[in-house]
Amino acid sequence: MMDFGRKLGFFDRVLEDAHTAFAPGKLLLFGEHAVVYGEPAVGLSLTKGVQLRLSPGSGQLKLSPALPAEVGKAAKSPGELLEAALGELNTRVDTEIHFGLPVMAGFGSSAALAVAALLAKNAFLQEAAMPWAELFDAALAIERRAHGQTTGVDVGIVSSGVLVGFLPGPARPHIWPIPLKRPIALVVGSLGQHGGTQAVVGRVAALKAQAPEMTQAALRTLGETSKRGEAALRSGDLADLQAAIQLAHGVLLGLGLVGPALQAVIDAAKAEGALAAKISGAGGDGGAFYALTEDLNQANALAKMLSTRPGVVAWAELLPAHD
Ligand code: MEV
Repeated sequence: MMDFGRKLGFFDRVLEDAHTAFAPGKLLLFGEHAVVYGEPAVGLSLTKGVQLRLSPGSGQLKLSPALPAEVGKAAKSPGELLEAALGELNTRVDTEIHFGLPVMAGFGSSAALAVAALLAKNAFLQEAAMPWAELFDAALAIERRAHGQTTGVDVGIVSSGVLVGFLPGPARPHIWPIPLKRPIALVVGSLGQHGGTQAVVGRVAALKAQAPEMTQAALRTLGETSKRGEAALRSGDLADLQAAIQLAHGVLLGLGLVGPALQAVIDAAKAEGALAAKISGAGGDGGAFYALTEDLNQANALAKMLSTRPGVVAWAELLPAHD
């Protein structure tokens, strides 16, 4: 298992001072839902994420911004996740959590919260830096409180700090970095919340029970888009990447995982010149999406345009090339 923390400099990036930690959100480019059935996924850690500060205190928790009411209904509260991460330390500290990206949208905010809380605890107690595998296992145990039996794809991506491939495994998943031949400019955004990861994963399971071969074939196709998408990212073939993104979105749409309002945003992105656009993460109603663009200028302009639509939050992300 690769030690991402050391090899990829993740900890250098996340720790700001002794008691403050940052963990990035995640964006699944390919493989959501299919990964639950053993297929590979591809995802990146975002520039936006969750920042968490611990100071000596008595268990007070301050969240910014305030979270939407849906969060309490479909997922565990940040307070519960924090308690799971900090244990008895929770009563001896005050915690400030800043969510720098939309929550319950598919950006892995609970995985980022778990990782940031573990890193902040580690710094607060002045313990030696956690090896990546230990961080992964501890964050996954916390994440499972929020989402039930997740594959760990969110924790895997968030804790890697880079663009990675992910294959679920019997004990730990296999996670590998994906070097890019050329920079890739994306618009990343969301419209409202998804339907709650557990509920939406349940919808796919119900369809699979109703029509096993057909659903399995769709999930295998999603796995193929992960493989083709990864190869296109490695070789810098934008046409192939575009085709993989379009097919993946079409399959997710066919599986009933794209709400009509989010589809309208995807259509708008393409009408405004995006090469391809796709939902990202669990989907269901609203939630996260991304659009592939030619370059950062186009991504910035498109993000600005999409942000004028009611309820849409969008920004540009540039994935750098590696030698
Ligand atoms: C959620 O980010 C990804 C899903 O595939 C669920 C999982 O893998 O645990 C929908």
